[in-house]
Amino acid sequence: MTPHISAKKEEIAKTVLMPGDPLRAKKIAETYLENVKLVNEVRNMFMYTGTYKGIEVTIAGSGMGCPSIGIYSYELFNFYDVENIIRIGSAGSYKKEIKVYDVYNVKEAYGDSNYAKLAANIDDKVIKAGTKLYSLIEKIAEEKNIKTLTGRAHSADVFYRHDDITEFVKENNLDVVEMESVALFANAIRAKKQAACLLTISDNLVTKEVTTAEERQNNFMQMVEIALEVAVK
Ligand code: ADE
Repeated sequence: MTPHISAKKEEIAKTVLMPGDPLRAKKIAETYLENVKLVNEVRNMFMYTGTYKGIEVTIAGSGMGCPSIGIYSYELFNFYDVENIIRIGSAGSYKKEIKVYDVYNVKEAYGDSNYAKLAANIDDKVIKAGTKLYSLIEKIAEEKNIKTLTGRAHSADVFYRHDDITEFVKENNLDVVEMESVALFANAIRAKKQAACLLTISDNLVTKEVTTAEERQNNFMQMVEIALEVAVK
């Protein structure tokens, strides 16, 4: 048990998939896992452990933003001996050619905050995903014939910014925006574990194209299926 997770140590698998929304964790667990058990409901941050193709996997909500995923991923890596965490989330696209429903494998994340410095004593603004996990995602996606895009994500602290960030996006070579991966990657580096982040594009900030909740649900599942295959490799 930790301050934020009530699961017993043996109730959490070595690989954890983390959607932001705890209800999405529930949906994924109920759709894909066998012998599913709810192992955490502190703060309604639902975590489920079950088996996929006979191998134990945990699906756990992360909440929104670096502070939230920072807490859960830290506790999972350091108090539950988790080896791999794959965030499975949504992102906004900063580029016309990166379209809604595209699947994006984050190679590195640019953080707005000083989370990486404070949590892991890393001075860089840009933090890399775990190479092993990142490469395995690419391999599995190719085997499944699912096209992934890859590059640098903006791990933003502010959803509703006051200013135009066109120049900032160009200068920092940012493809997409989400709000969690930099904290997850920094925690993994400090714990000497593996972290990756798979995203489905839910909105395009250039073309203003958006997705409906129902469409999102269906298209998210491609990304989930890649992550599950990676989890049992
Ligand atoms: N996740 C999905 N769309 C996003 C956006 N526009 N900004 C930040 N995070 C997001």
